Amino acid sequence: MKVAIIGSGIVGRVLAQAFVSEGHQVALGTRDTSKEEVVKFKTENPAISIGDFATTAAYGDIIVLAVGGAVALSAIELAGTQNFGNKVVIDATNPISSEPPVNGVLKFFTDYNSSLMEQIQLKLSEAKLVKAFNSVGNALMYKPNFNGIKPTMFICGNDESAKKAVTTILDTFGWETEDMGKAEAARAIEPLCILWCIPGFINNQWMHAFKLLKK
Ligand SMILES: NC(=O)c1ccc[n+]([C@@H]2O[C@H](COP(=O)([O-])OP(=O)(O)OC[C@H]3O[C@@H](n4cnc5c(N)ncnc54)[C@H](OP(=O)(O)O)[C@@H]3O)[C@@H](O)[C@H]2O)c1
Repeated sequence: MKVAIIGSGIVGRVLAQAFVSEGHQVALGTRDTSKEEVVKFKTENPAISIGDFATTAAYGDIIVLAVGGAVALSAIELAGTQNFGNKVVIDATNPISSEPPVNGVLKFFTDYNSSLMEQIQLKLSEAKLVKAFNSVGNALMYKPNFNGIKPTMFICGNDESAKKAVTTILDTFGWETEDMGKAEAARAIEPLCILWCIPGFINNQWMHAFKLLKK
């Protein structure tokens, strides 16, 4: 598959390498291809093409959105809404507010009855959005090692075939996947990021993931 990663932050870079490890062709998008960390990344990962958001989005059969939540809609504008078409779009973003956390609890700019994913889906009405990767730190996104126990990635989205495709990707990345339903479920999945970050902020513990236990 040709995978387009929109975002040159740590999540974009980690997922780009993960897709390459799984044999996919990968392009990574940034507004500034001369940025120090991007130049270093390109040197270390010569197989990954680097380009602007629009060139990158046009390249992908599947697109991963890995930009700051507050700038997600403007990044999509820069990438060109037409370049998303009816593609599968993995949405890894979180609607984190610029205000500081309170006792380790992040603030969101969305409320309990809305989500960033729904805003993005409205903007990209043809695209098949799937929320994924937002509820775990980048260090554990690919092949998380919990002594043989697979952690759970919670996903949601309106298109069943897109969620199947993302579940296949998650299988290869070492995750068990729980499909929580339609895009509205992002109202519950996005705040898992708040919960996930608390041990990090208060105890500097960042190496954990969620697991859904079922009978
Ligand atoms: N960090 C984690 O471990 C983690 C885990 C799960 C989910 N997430 C979520 O994943 C997303 C990416 O996180 P991150 O830590 O990798 O990086 P980030 O710093 O949140 O985002 C970096 C990306 O945002 C782009 N960007 C910044 N300002 C912009 C603007 N005004 N317009 C358009 N694009 C802009 C940057 O563009 P340039 O390339 O041009 O600099 C860069 O590509 C976030 O939504 C975050 O909440 C993060």
